[in-house]
Amino acid sequence: MRQPLVAGNWKMNGSKESIQALIGGLKAGLSSGADAEVVVCPPAIYISETKVLLEESSIVLGGQNLCDHAEQGAFTGEIAASMLLDFGCKYVIVGHSERRALYGETDALVAEKFRVAYDAGLKPILCVGELLEERESGQTEAVVARQLDAVLNMDGGVAALADSVIAYEPVWAIGTGKTASPEQAQDVHAFIRQRIAEKDSGVAAKTRILYGGSVKAGNAAELFSKSDIDGGLVGGASLIVDEFLGICRAS
Ligand code: 13P
Repeated sequence: MRQPLVAGNWKMNGSKESIQALIGGLKAGLSSGADAEVVVCPPAIYISETKVLLEESSIVLGGQNLCDHAEQGAFTGEIAASMLLDFGCKYVIVGHSERRALYGETDALVAEKFRVAYDAGLKPILCVGELLEERESGQTEAVVARQLDAVLNMDGGVAALADSVIAYEPVWAIGTGKTASPEQAQDVHAFIRQRIAEKDSGVAAKTRILYGGSVKAGNAAELFSKSDIDGGLVGGASLIVDEFLGICRAS
């Protein structure tokens, strides 16, 4: 009942030339369709270019970040939800661990961005995940619960999750080549779904929960075969045509 979703988070990578080649390859490879909904999240400055390149394809656009202020105005360097919508974005990533760690985004700020995105009509992809030391000290569930609760406990937060996406990305697995085992990932995904179910089991059954962290064509099928893993949020491998196509086909 949950359509698988594979989203490519390009992070701060690419050029006009490389994006043209990447989208060309993905369009050709996906011309006969895929079971998964396929999303690409380019750096903001390339969204407009990517939108043109994506014409006549089923690949969907997403943003990597947005401003926590709903109204346009004096927020130098920021991008409003309305601007992402203006260029055809359907999704937007919020709370990626790189934004939490490098740009000081707190749970409260992430929840605010989630609310602004959702209210504007974007589907937020809420990232959660623990650091290595948190896993090793047995705090994985506590950390993920805290990050999730910031959204779950907002006014209307539970209902919003039905139509949003959660990405479980253990920080120690991001860009390291160390993937969580399918069992490790499934355990946390089941925990997330259960926590939502405590508020609303109908919503929990609908929310798509993606795994992220060194997903590749070679490990995607095993991860996606788990009952609570509904697809992937892919970094490095989303920049390589054959890798990303392999992941899209694994779902
Ligand atoms: P990698 O796939 O490069 O590990 O990155 C995962 C990620 O952070 C996606 O948002």
